[in-house]
Amino acid sequence: MRTVDIIHKKRDGGELTKEELDFLIEGYTRGDIPDYQLSAWAMAVFFNGMTARETAELTMAMVRSGEQVDLSSIPGVKVDKHSTGGVGDTTTLILAPLVAAAGIPVAKMSGRGLGHTGGTIDKLEAIPGFEVERTKEQFLNQVKEIGLAVVGQSGNLTPADKKLYALRDVTATVESIPLIASSIMSKKIASGADAIVLDVKTGRGAFMKSLEDSVRLAKAMVEIGTEIGRETVAVITNMDEPLGPSIGNALEVREAIETLKGQGPAELTELCRELAKHMVLLGGKAQDETEAKQLVAQLLKSGEALEKLKQLIKAQGGDARVADEPDRLPEAAYRVPVPSPADGCIAAIDAEALGVTAMLLGAGRATKEDPIDLAVGIKLFKRVGDAVKAGEPLAELYMNRNEPADTARMCERTAAAFTITEAPAPRSKLIYAVVT
Ligand code: URA
Ligand code: CA
Repeated sequence: MRTVDIIHKKRDGGELTKEELDFLIEGYTRGDIPDYQLSAWAMAVFFNGMTARETAELTMAMVRSGEQVDLSSIPGVKVDKHSTGGVGDTTTLILAPLVAAAGIPVAKMSGRGLGHTGGTIDKLEAIPGFEVERTKEQFLNQVKEIGLAVVGQSGNLTPADKKLYALRDVTATVESIPLIASSIMSKKIASGADAIVLDVKTGRGAFMKSLEDSVRLAKAMVEIGTEIGRETVAVITNMDEPLGPSIGNALEVREAIETLKGQGPAELTELCRELAKHMVLLGGKAQDETEAKQLVAQLLKSGEALEKLKQLIKAQGGDARVADEPDRLPEAAYRVPVPSPADGCIAAIDAEALGVTAMLLGAGRATKEDPIDLAVGIKLFKRVGDAVKAGEPLAELYMNRNEPADTARMCERTAAAFTITEAPAPRSKLIYAVVT
């Protein structure tokens, strides 16, 4: 088999065989196939696409390129959830204990944040004492004991995806639906998921800016799941504004605790209930949507979901008192209001720009080695559709720096993320579609 013939075939719109895809991915992972050939192939895929079968086989080739987490010793259906690129996305912190409380085993390996997106592992470290490093054995034992563990990624999962994603990033081939779909699904499958719920973001802050493209991406991922026998459901949700009002590690932990107590922000609560409902159904813990919804509502209302979070914190060495006394979380030294520059209505809020500003405040990393400040971040007071008066606070910055020029710059950046119009703006819809 020759790489050039495979590129040629895809360039001319052909359908690659499993053997050809395995050859490409194995050769590329080993370093036998150079970047320039994979680049040419990725561009051919960008223009000609892939069939559902090809996409599924590419996904599995990437899964086999590295280690795979074996969760088979844990009884039950392991349902995982993934959000495609969220800013201030606190859903994992809420969903993990919530569905674990429903009796679905949650064995989650999460990442740290980079750039404008936050990572669940960093957020958990805002809880005093919480340890994210566990051996594989400790990880599995904890899931068997309390039904829930959330640890940092270890091992060498999907090295082919890591390499290919980095290559796509510099060859203008990121925005290809089969390449995005296989990239995301390979990581979920390598982490041991039996069933997968996807939160596919659409809008200004998302990979997929149009609803049409988001539906195509969702369908591609659901089809991969179908092809390989891992049931997958995708919920398409709005990203024309950040999901919840908090951006920043300790702030988001606080928001997750409030949501588990039934006192969280409306949109975040609604999305978590929707995603949890699908997870409960895939996990076989309810017969139909009505029953799933009732179960989720009851776990929140009874405090069982919050209790599960406490168990998680305790099992991983953290101070579980934060669940009842969130003031034990790290607190920033300064709070700075960001006044609205004008009267009007909020028409859009740029989630990515706010993510970058939170990073600049110290909540996130520009490079993998940067230290982060768990206490700092941004709290939003307005949502799309809200009216605002000039001078009224749009948001509040939580800062540990106090240098006037720097503070003014951060306020300016935050205010600039809000689009304020004279005409009234409609509230944005949260959930657009469910693809099964
Ligand atoms: N996220 C991923 O993990 N992979 C992609 O290709 C795009 C977004
Ligand atoms: Ca948030």
